[in-house]
Amino acid sequence: MNILVTGGAGYIGSHTCVALLEAGHRVIIADNLCNSNLETLNKITKITSKEVIFYQIDVTDESAIDNIFSKHTIDGIIHFASLKAVSESVERPLIYYYNNVISTILLTKACEKHSVKRFVFSSSATVYGKNKVPYVETMKLLPTTNPYGETKAISERILTDMAKVNPDWSVALLRYFNPVGAHESGLIGETPNSIPNNLMPRITQVAKGKLPRLYVFGNDYPTTDGTCVRDYIHVCDLAKGHVAALNKLSKGVHIYNLGTGQGTSVLRLIHAFQETNNIKIHYEITARRPGDIAECYADVSKAERELGWTAKRDLSAMCRDAWRFEKKHAGP
Ligand code: NAD
Ligand code: UD1
Repeated sequence: MNILVTGGAGYIGSHTCVALLEAGHRVIIADNLCNSNLETLNKITKITSKEVIFYQIDVTDESAIDNIFSKHTIDGIIHFASLKAVSESVERPLIYYYNNVISTILLTKACEKHSVKRFVFSSSATVYGKNKVPYVETMKLLPTTNPYGETKAISERILTDMAKVNPDWSVALLRYFNPVGAHESGLIGETPNSIPNNLMPRITQVAKGKLPRLYVFGNDYPTTDGTCVRDYIHVCDLAKGHVAALNKLSKGVHIYNLGTGQGTSVLRLIHAFQETNNIKIHYEITARRPGDIAECYADVSKAERELGWTAKRDLSAMCRDAWRFEKKHAGP
């Protein structure tokens, strides 16, 4: 299939392009490079020995989108392009609503105009809000605590409504848990363009000496060791979940949790990183981070049952590959 991948130069997008190319699909990337760089495209080719078609466009630009849909026969779209920093979304809500919601509207409009019937959307576990774990796809969504999360919930609703009036569409709403790690080649991975907020990039930056220590945000949560529990998933497993969704998708709207189903505490992840890579991570317990929830992990049985997909890589592989990439990566 010819797959249009918006945000394909980014972290999850680049790994998914590799998985798509390896599965025999052709890839057209649309990315404005606001949080990625061109070099990633060469690396995708280096890993797969296959070329991608690239358009440096903003997916809030309707005519630029239309140009791609007119030039290529597109069999399906995976829409990753989005801004994703939760705290920034609280400070600059309009930029988030504009970028993340307008892009979904315009891409959906282009799909309708050009009869593209397969749409895979990058959603997030954050849409579950304060539901009880494990999160199941049938749960009623609760309000999220930030504009970023709202843009995901709104985009889900737009796609759901559009699929109602286009009954021959197949839409997958993929709710990711916590993607970590990198491609085993060490060529592509996560390259935050400022000090990262997320746990794994902070661990690798402490390991590399870029940050003096890791602050663990709270050890008084009602969890086994008092630190927050998350469902970390290797980015290559997540990438394969997209290929499975594209291949297996039937008509209608289908929601899938993409996680491992395993909860891991902050301290457990630090220890796994230390043991796997034989590096000491200096950490200090500090106050809770506002907005954090104690536990977030998936019920993954639906993706297994309907897509035949499960995450294969364990915590040790996540820690090994994240560290391999950080060591190789020449960035700041
Ligand atoms: P990323 O920032 O690495 O990738 C996003 C890509 O989209 C970047 O290459 C960026 O340049 C591009 N982009 C953003 N706005 C654009 C626009 N208007 N026009 C064109 N390109 C644009 O992020 P990621 O971690 O790879 O996330 C991919 C998707 O998955 C996002 O939708 C994100 O919200 C979602 N998601 C990510 C996580 C996570 O922890 N990384 C968790 C849940 C959901
Ligand atoms: C965050 C976002 C979430 C988003 C997800 C993936 C918030 C409140 N939530 O989730 O919406 O979908 O990233 O991008 O920002 N931690 C530390 N020290 C650190 C960094 C993190 O102790 O330096 C802890 C956090 O308190 C949390 C856990 O590690 O308990 C994981 O944090 P993080 O990687 O930021 O992911 P989430 O909080 O799950």
